[in-house]
Amino acid sequence: MSLTSVIIPTTPFEGQKPGTSGLRKKVKVFMEKHYTENFIQCILDAQKEKIKGCTLVVGGDGRYFTTQAINIIIRIAAANEVSKLIIGRRGLLSTPAVSSLIRSHKVLGGIVLTASHNPGGIRNDFGIKYNIENGGPAPDQLTNEIYELTQKITQYKFTPELDCDFQQPGVQTFEVDGRQFVVEVIDPVNDYVTLMKSIFDFKKLRSLLNGTETQPSFNVLIDSMNGVTGVYVKRIFLEELGSDQDSVARIIPLDNFGEIHPDPNLTYAKDLVDKVKEDLRYDLGAAFDGDGDRNMIIGKNAFFVTPSDSLAVIANNLNCIPYFQKNGVHGFARSMPTAAAVDRVAQKLNKEMFEVPTGWKYFGNLMDAGRLSLCGEESFGTGSDHIREKDGVWAVLAWLSIIEHKKMSIEEILKEHWRTYGRNYFTRYDYEECDCESANKMMEHLEKFISNDGVVGKSYSSGGKTYVIQKVDNFSYVDPIDNSVAKNQGIRILFEDGSRLVFRLSGTGSSGATIRVYIDSYEKSDTTADAQIMLKPLVNIALEISQLKQFTGREEPTVIT
Ligand code: G6P
Ligand code: ZN
Repeated sequence: MSLTSVIIPTTPFEGQKPGTSGLRKKVKVFMEKHYTENFIQCILDAQKEKIKGCTLVVGGDGRYFTTQAINIIIRIAAANEVSKLIIGRRGLLSTPAVSSLIRSHKVLGGIVLTASHNPGGIRNDFGIKYNIENGGPAPDQLTNEIYELTQKITQYKFTPELDCDFQQPGVQTFEVDGRQFVVEVIDPVNDYVTLMKSIFDFKKLRSLLNGTETQPSFNVLIDSMNGVTGVYVKRIFLEELGSDQDSVARIIPLDNFGEIHPDPNLTYAKDLVDKVKEDLRYDLGAAFDGDGDRNMIIGKNAFFVTPSDSLAVIANNLNCIPYFQKNGVHGFARSMPTAAAVDRVAQKLNKEMFEVPTGWKYFGNLMDAGRLSLCGEESFGTGSDHIREKDGVWAVLAWLSIIEHKKMSIEEILKEHWRTYGRNYFTRYDYEECDCESANKMMEHLEKFISNDGVVGKSYSSGGKTYVIQKVDNFSYVDPIDNSVAKNQGIRILFEDGSRLVFRLSGTGSSGATIRVYIDSYEKSDTTADAQIMLKPLVNIALEISQLKQFTGREEPTVIT
């Protein structure tokens, strides 16, 4: 049967501006008539002529509204002369898997349906993100273009009678306006597992996890938090690496994530932390967010590895991973608010080191140019140039490879690392869902503070410690590859002893404003203290300078990481 597309008149919606990582709103907003359709049409329009005859990958974390969104995408893509969509079975694809598929199939791009670590379900969040040809998130220039299009859209193209089932793998061909339109539904895991097997030594990992005659088994608890990684964890840990059911938790993807907040940190992954604390059999605990790009690593007795330290330790040990043995190690990078532990490794190994704004998209150009092999963010993101997204499962496999190689516990590895390099103490205070106006006023206040003439040299004291301001700025970044500039990426207050305060507003929330305060300091020899105690004086100074409590009325942060 030949299907015909139609043109449907529409009017713009306000606020379709992609944030740090795509457009995120409440499900009910995406459900408004034409809302999702408008945004998808604008994503396709922003590709201009390239859209005709192209292939796109589509999938996400399976959260509520995924099925409806994919149906809309199929019908709009067909009408806009896209020739093929590659869709994960049941709409499931982790964000790293989308990135990998775009690259391995050499297609124009992908549409990722996720609000990442934000809660899902009918009352919570949905999200749409566009990834480009290199597999990475669209750069600012493209997301700005998409946003501009959303402000003037008058119509979208649609194929109303195109009914396409994507519950089972297989290829379906349709005729739309006399052209062929193909939907290939794929197993969401196959391509990704092949990639992981080409990066890591699965045989070694298998014997680590199962033990050998001379080594007891290394016991893990991998928590998918009811997100999409469940299907990857099942295949990789249970089937490929031969772990048992006790090694995994919450591996059935649920469209509301079982009403939890699928964000792998000490607050929202408390279940995992408690289990690992209670059961001393476990040597490693790991959790991922809804779409599988974030990770948290803890050791025995829930010994917490900060993402900044995790990045530094992986950087220091890349030589035990086959992928890097083969491809070599080029530079390292971190986002600006991430503590500088990896910088010390870069210096020792004589590698190039980059500091970029918050957002994985800023790493892509450096990787494409062959100048970056490994990078990470304090927001529980770690990854390498095997794809152009951060990758939670990859990070755990990297840690297991290091543990297998060093034959040490996580705590021992960290302590050895700190003995060698000193320790960057780090903590982040989040104040979620603040009133937008108050949050903006606080940022304006900070802007004024840093533009004061007398600010450098000013000293602040708390808890018996005194800090003198050495430098202040609002971070801006010039991409060394394409010279694009990203401004206003966070207020920085740097002290003479190397300690630092950073303030920024989150770009990933769906309502209200989230204020993030990043606090870090460096200690050469006192490396085993409690980070919260160590950083308390700086926290107090951060609150004093920003007047956060006065502006927001908040006494305490909602999350501390
Ligand atoms: C997502 C992005 C990351 C970013 C994080 C926090 O996970 O992929 O690159 O670091 O959000 O962003 P935010 O703007 O909320 O601090
Ligand atoms: Zn995510």
